[in-house]
Amino acid sequence: MSSILRTALVSAGPACRIGILHSGLNLAPKLGTTFATRALIHTGQPNNNSLTGKRINEESPTGTEGFHLKDSAASKQGLTTPDAVSTLPPTIVRGDWVLFHPVYSQEEIKAVEVLQREAKTISDKIAYHLVRLTRWGFDLVSGYKHKPIPADSKMSVEELRKGGYILDEKAWLSRILFLETVAGVPGMVAAMLRHLTSLRLMRRDSGWIHTLLEEAENERMHLMTFMTLRRPSLFFRGLVLGAQGVFFNLFFLSYIISPRTCHRFVAYLEEEAVLTYTRCIQDIESGRLPEWSNMPAPEIAKDYWRLDPSANLLDVIYAVRSDESTHRFVNHSFANLNTETDVNPFALREPDMLVKGRKLGFSREEAEQYVEESHQMLEHGKADSK
Ligand SMILES: [Fe+2]
Ligand SMILES: [Fe+2]
Repeated sequence: MSSILRTALVSAGPACRIGILHSGLNLAPKLGTTFATRALIHTGQPNNNSLTGKRINEESPTGTEGFHLKDSAASKQGLTTPDAVSTLPPTIVRGDWVLFHPVYSQEEIKAVEVLQREAKTISDKIAYHLVRLTRWGFDLVSGYKHKPIPADSKMSVEELRKGGYILDEKAWLSRILFLETVAGVPGMVAAMLRHLTSLRLMRRDSGWIHTLLEEAENERMHLMTFMTLRRPSLFFRGLVLGAQGVFFNLFFLSYIISPRTCHRFVAYLEEEAVLTYTRCIQDIESGRLPEWSNMPAPEIAKDYWRLDPSANLLDVIYAVRSDESTHRFVNHSFANLNTETDVNPFALREPDMLVKGRKLGFSREEAEQYVEESHQMLEHGKADSK
């Protein structure tokens, strides 16, 4: 079984990837994927953005990472200082150096569901209970409570906040910022360890490193986005420093011992992230978080998710929740594979949010079938290009 998974990716050379551009456009709708969009984005070919109608590689005055020119006076100075980010003349600030842009349709961002996977094996149970413990500890330290609001409640937003039923915008932001500083760690650690294994054993990685790095960067972009809304205090930065020191080392050692348990742990963590952002969306949409209901989206977010120029913070949170749903799906799928011998089924394409938002992950058999479909698309593209 694993041999099919492996040969599918191994035989995919650069020429085949070009073939994908042709076959992807024809086959993507049938296979229910955003594959064509992803392939085009990855290869730097011009393409129309499905939300804004602009070409994705169109020259833009916006940078993709870091503070945007319009975000604050301080960042404006930082970006326009010669040699701060590039050797371009200081009046031209542009660049697109992220690994990918997650672009979602309206249908996709609304498709994400809160899901919980039952812990079946001992390894699953260890991962599940570690996540519960982490969440409990974090809720205790941050004073987070999510008491159900009584059905016949006529309490005002202020009363609900005082009664500990809902969070105010400061508490939401602290919670999100802290979680995102931690969430960016596992992908990078796992990618680094797989990279070192590949070097040390002189064998191919089978496409895992790239997806793991994408996850790490995606989480960091969440942090960069929410950072534009608040300047963290020294105390907060100290907490992040301590948490990173502890979590990095624990995850590093755990990944050496059991990569599969670690992917399951991340997947359960992402289930919590989807739940947290869903509650945040519900609070905004029901008027319980009025400070964020009409707040415009930060420029960095419009640029990264290719949002409409008139997008607001709610659109950004929907996009972030979709990203978290991807992490949930990818990590549950990874935890179902043989981490040493199977190829990464998402190395060439990923299902769209209508799948990733409603399903916990691929079983090993589904992953194998997905790789076979990718293989057929490659063959189809090769035949077309002859
Ligand atoms: Fe995140
Ligand atoms: Fe995530």
